[in-house]
Amino acid sequence: MFKKTILSVLIIGLSALNTAQAIMDEAADNTEQGKTLHDASCMSCHTNKYPDEPNTVYSREDRTVTEYSQLTSRVQLCGTRAIDTAWFDEDFDAVTTYLNTEFYHFDVE
Ligand code: HEC
Repeated sequence: MFKKTILSVLIIGLSALNTAQAIMDEAADNTEQGKTLHDASCMSCHTNKYPDEPNTVYSREDRTVTEYSQLTSRVQLCGTRAIDTAWFDEDFDAVTTYLNTEFYHFDVE
């Protein structure tokens, strides 16, 4: 009986760990996917402005995006100008996640 309880607790603990790991893996995948999409579709104009390091547009002192909701809008705005083939919502989300993880670091509600 006692052994069984310990075993159950162990199993529940392990599956919780697995779930946490899966969530972290998914976030990492999403960021990775976002970077791939971003680097393929989002560099051209930013490169015109910052030829040496196009991502300076996100990290410069006077950047225009100052909160998370602005970031999602800006990704949509630039995205609809940038992309020939339509992106799914997941693609916009992945690019937003990548930019936030890498450059903006806003708290996501
Ligand atoms: C058609 C040209 C063009 C393309 C392509 C483009 N952008 Fe932009 N982007 C701009 C311009 C212009 C700015 C404003 C630069 C400035 O304020 O000096 C900008 C600014 C931004 C900013 C705000 C930076 C800040 O000041 O905080 C974000 C975020 C952004 N772009 C994301 C993207 C993403 C994501 C993509 C790809 C889906 C993309 N852009 C593709 C033209 C473009």
